[in-house]
Amino acid sequence: MPRHVAVIMDGNGRWAKKRFLPRVAGHVKGVELVREMVRACLERGVDYLTLFAFSSENWRRPAEEVSLLMQLFVKALEQEVEKLDRNGVRLRVIGDLSRFDPSLQQLIRSAEAKTEANSRLQLTIAANYGGRWDVMQAVNRMAIDQPERRGAWSECDLEPYLSMSFAPEPDLFIRTGGEERISNFLLWQLAYTELYFTQTLWPDFNTGEFDKAIASYQLRERRFGRTSEQLTGDPHA
Ligand code: IPE
Ligand code: IPE
Ligand code: MG
Repeated sequence: MPRHVAVIMDGNGRWAKKRFLPRVAGHVKGVELVREMVRACLERGVDYLTLFAFSSENWRRPAEEVSLLMQLFVKALEQEVEKLDRNGVRLRVIGDLSRFDPSLQQLIRSAEAKTEANSRLQLTIAANYGGRWDVMQAVNRMAIDQPERRGAWSECDLEPYLSMSFAPEPDLFIRTGGEERISNFLLWQLAYTELYFTQTLWPDFNTGEFDKAIASYQLRERRFGRTSEQLTGDPHA
């Protein structure tokens, strides 16, 4: 089982369009699939689930869609946190939250605080997140903390400052909706992650689809730069 699964939930708009519905109907359906995904991770013993909900570039969308997405985010937080807490889920939100409404920021902070003691599943929502932003905010904070080590900073020095420092790197990355790109998601952390792309649109990505992704992951050989023989323990390797 992958310990950490990271997902770009893409295809809500196209799902709605196919049904002659407004784009927001796809996002509403998408929230339902988040619920299903969380349940599936709890059942399968996945420890970390990280979901890309809103990228730093998504502000470029029509104001009406952005506003509806924010309302959905607020509603989901208000309605789901209690249940997440009961199921032992710890919720975190990563990204540049300063651009959100103060009331939404407050809602996020209280949801994080409420679920702080849970450890069955670590659920992370990336909102106004960008992989480049993450690396830069980490570099800036490191530079302030350790100015004397300038010129000698290492990867290990930077890692504690990254937004996902609490988690192991993702084992499995899933992107639904058919595009085969990272769209500025976890750039640093995906260095050795197994990538899985599917045409299935996010609102159709049910538990059966998730199991297909896991099955694909389980067939991969993760070499991390080594040879295949080294991994299988062949004495002649
Ligand atoms: C993903 O679905 C959800 C967000 C980016 C918030 P899209 O809204 O990108 O759906 P498509 O890609 O237009 O179908
Ligand atoms: C990526 O999807 C971001 C989220 C799913 C939140 P987009 O739909 O914004 O990505 P692009 O624009 O197709 O790369
Ligand atoms: Mg999209």
